Amino acid sequence: MESFTYFVFARVLHVIGVVLWIGGVAFVTTVLIPSLKNINGSTNKLALFEQLEEKFSFQAKLATVVTGISGFYMIDVMNAWDRYQHLQYWWIHLMTLIWFIFTLILFVFEPLFLHQWFHEQVIKDSTKIFSWIHTMHKILLALSLLAVLGAIAGVHGLF
Ligand code: HEM
Repeated sequence: MESFTYFVFARVLHVIGVVLWIGGVAFVTTVLIPSLKNINGSTNKLALFEQLEEKFSFQAKLATVVTGISGFYMIDVMNAWDRYQHLQYWWIHLMTLIWFIFTLILFVFEPLFLHQWFHEQVIKDSTKIFSWIHTMHKILLALSLLAVLGAIAGVHGLF
């Protein structure tokens, strides 16, 4: 297979990764967390959240890895590492930043302390912590959508 075919394949994988990942984040932000906020009792809330989150966690991890590898592969094939030095490629910076934040959360913070910390906070004050994670998800979703907008407009030469 010639390298152009590999590049197109990487791009396809990249976008499929983004769809599964950001789509999942959108569902958690606009459907799952608001529904959980309406459930009474912290024990029920926590049990349901952890059950659903566990299922999504594997998908999110896989999508993060696929999106990251395909993204860096494309930059390498295009020999476009210098884009990181130009402000006009702010969307490449934003994509990489979002990927970095999710990678840290999923692969480092979550297994190290986040899971345990969240468990404790729900028992202390579940309304407060669910409001907080909702706000965090809204910020990450807004940034992710901005990255999608910037990437598509950027690829087509708008900036
Ligand atoms: C390590 C992280 C990432 C890297 C290195 C990366 C890199 C790239 C590269 C090199 C392209 C192709 C640009 C071109 O053809 O000129 C691209 C396209 C794209 N990326 Fe990323 N990306 C990353 C993460 C993300 C994330 C987190 C998102 C979504 C929030 C995202 C969404 C997109 C979209 C929507 C496109 C446009 C595809 C198209 O119109 O063909 N990327 N990315």
